[in-house]
Formats: sequence, C-alpha cells, structure tokens
Amino acid sequence: MKNILVTGGAGFIGSNFVRYLLENEPKLNVVVLDALTYAGSMENLRDLPDGSRYSFIHGDICRRDQVKETMQEHDIDTVIHFAAETHVDRSILGPAPFIETNIVGTFNLLDAARALWLEGSNAPSSSFRFHHISTDEVYGSLAPDDPAFTEITSYAPNSPYAASKAASDHLVRAYSQTYGLPITITNCSNNYGLYQFPEKMIPLMIINAMAGARLPIYGDGLQVRDWLFVLDHCEAIMLVIRDGRLGETYNIGGMNQLTNLSLVEMICSILDEILPESPHRPHSQLVEFVQDRPGHDRRYAMDITKINQELDWEPKETFESGLRKTMEWYLNNPSWVSAIQDRPTHKDWLEQNYAIRGETK
Ligand code: NAD
Ligand code: DAU
Repeated sequence: MKNILVTGGAGFIGSNFVRYLLENEPKLNVVVLDALTYAGSMENLRDLPDGSRYSFIHGDICRRDQVKETMQEHDIDTVIHFAAETHVDRSILGPAPFIETNIVGTFNLLDAARALWLEGSNAPSSSFRFHHISTDEVYGSLAPDDPAFTEITSYAPNSPYAASKAASDHLVRAYSQTYGLPITITNCSNNYGLYQFPEKMIPLMIINAMAGARLPIYGDGLQVRDWLFVLDHCEAIMLVIRDGRLGETYNIGGMNQLTNLSLVEMICSILDEILPESPHRPHSQLVEFVQDRPGHDRRYAMDITKINQELDWEPKETFESGLRKTMEWYLNNPSWVSAIQDRPTHKDWLEQNYAIRGETK
C-alpha cells in the first residue's frame, strides 16, 4: 500500500480519515478526489499534518474518464471509497443524485480499478485494495428486542439513500466474485464528531440549541441509533484494510444505542452546564416534536463480533466524552459553522426540510 485514493475526502468522515492517515501512516501518499458538493469543503482539510504527502483533485466520481485518469496518474494501489450523497431526508425529497453518485459513481470506480489493476498490470491482484464504506441502513429497521445486525442479515433498505448504498455494496461484491477484484466492505452505524455537516442530527441540535432555535424531533423521538465516534471508525477502517480478509464485509458499530430524544436531552444538559450564562437555559425547552420522516427506520444496532474477534477492534471513545469533544469543537469553531450557515443553499435546505414539518405536540 503506497498511494491511496480517498474519494469524498472533503466530507465529514473522509476528512477525518485523511487526517488520521497523515498522522498515523508516515509512508503513505494520500490523494483526495472530491466533487465539493454542498457537503464537502476545503475547510475540512485545512492545516493537515505533512501536506507534502497529500494532494487534492477536484473531481467527480460520476465522470468515468476523470476517475480513471486520476487513478492512472497517481499510480493508485488502494481506493477508500467514501464519496456519496449521504443525507436520508435529501434522498426522500430528491433521490436522483443518490442514484448517480452512489450507484453509477461506485460502478465507475470499480470499473477503473478492474481495468488498471486486473487488466493493465503485472502485479498480483492482492497488492491492490478497493475498500468500500457502507452503512447499517442497508439492513433495514429493527424492532426493540431484535438482535443486532450481523454481516449475514438480509438487506432490506427502506429509504432511497439506503437502497442506493445497498446497490453499491452489491456491485462491489459482484466485482470481487466475477472479476476477482480485491475488495473489502465495512458497514457502519451513525458517526458523530468534528467536521460533521450541520444538517445531520447531532451538529444540527448543538448549533440550534446554542442559538436558542427549536430542536425538531421527528415523530415520537423514540427511534434508536447506535452512535460511533468518527475516529474509532477511522481506526476500524485502517485495520480492515491492513488485516481484513479479501472479499469480506465487516460491521462496525458504537455499542451505544440511544433514542433520539435521550440524545437531545443529553446535548441540552451538557450545554446547560458549559454555558451557564446562556439565556436559553434550560435548553430542553427548545425541543419541538415535528412531523416524522417517511419510512423512518425505528432502530439500528450493529453486532461487531466479527471485527472484534478477527481484528481485535472495539470502540474506544465513550459516548459522553466523544459528545463533549464534539460539542466543544462546534462551540470553538463558529467561523466553520457560519460559513455553512451563510450559504443560500443551506438556508434553502433548512426551509425545504423543516417548513413541511409542523409541530405535532
Ligand atoms: P458527507 O456527506 O459528509 O461527505 C460526502 C463527501 O462526498 C463530500 O465531500 C462530497 O463533496 C463528496 N461527494 C459527493 N458526491 C461526489 C461525487 N459525485 N464525486 C466526488 N465526490 C463526491 O458524508 P459522510 O457522512 O462523511 O459519509 C461518508 C461515507 O460514509 C458515505 O459513503 C456514507 O454512506 C458512509 N457512512 C456514513 C455514516 C455517517 O453516520 N455519516 C455512517 C455509515 C456510513
Ligand atoms: O446509520 C448510518 C447513517 O447515519 C448513515 O448511513 C447516513 O449517511 C447518516 O446520515 C446517518 O443517517 P440517519 O438518518 O440515521 O442520520 P440523521 O442525522 O439524519 O438522523 C439521526 C436520527 O435523528 C434519525 O432517527 C432522524 C432523527 N432526526 C434527524 C434530524 C436531522 C430528527 O429527529 N430531527 C432532525 O432534525
């Protein structure tokens, strides 16, 4: 492994992963390919350690020529594929870009890797790796007492986002089975941490609560997510790339199931404590129950036995400490937050997604 292509490296998890690689893997060169959609930002890649081993290509995985050229030019031997449209609510209001990027974009990358690694190279295929980042949402929704998802749980995606990720997982598997492309896949639960785009639950709630704006909880707020600190996710990905078995899928989870309501209450009480002068205390008064997300999955939970037993991985960060670090980062980086909030496209999104959701209780 010498030259790694990180697609979607200007997004939330991708930028954390690029920083993690540059800090922990001194022999690797890192090439980021990112279209800088609304969710990507060069601000996420500022002040990287050892910038001499890093280059950025502003490019689109939906452009086959560009994908192949980038891989060829940088002699890429490892692809870590994060690039995707990722917000479930956006996939409900406009699914088309999810089909393009998540399915066709993944196909373009796979096909370029096949052409360059399996047809155009004399090196053994095991010196290459295509690692695909996927999600727990492909498995569908759990009832309260159901066992957690394992790697052999049937796929049952419920949103256009989840269906597009499921399709991409199938393509990755098919390229391994049919052509022998050396792949691994990880399916991960909800991440949180630094640089997460503030349309997602945790940063949205932190930022709204600090500003005294309403905290919109979908439905009854009793949906459960399994929260994982993003750096624990980065560590797990690296272990799978290094020591995971080719052709295998590994589930990654936070061992941390919480209802949305209890999560928001936790954010509110930490803010009450760290902002004792805030005029919005108690911040929990800002909670508003709003109309639910259509097809809203009730519960996700990951069984991490496989990655734990094979690769000795488990999450290190406790939820309370990870959440505090995350909240402090958003409090201390108002210019990062306002740069996003000032974009007309972000205001339009908030208007579009929340205007349709009247208060329900
Ligand atoms: P994000 O939305 O923060 O970032 C996505 C990045 O991909 C952005 O930088 C964007 O510019 C880029 N991108 C989008 N379309 C592109 C295209 N056509 N060509 C090139 N770049 C493009 O996403 P994230 O939350 O960091 O998620 C990263 C990956 O992890 C995704 O594949 C997602 O499905 C998966 N995942 C996310 C979570 C989570 O909780 N965030 C959990 C499990 C899996
Ligand atoms: O589970 C992994 C997935 O986690 C990733 O694959 C997705 O890319 C990522 O966006 C995330 O999906 P979710 O839909 O779970 O995340 P989101 O932050 O959008 O919502 C988390 C929960 O909070 C969900 O039950 C919906 C709820 N919610 C969300 C928002 C934005 C609210 O109640 N109010 C809100 O305003």
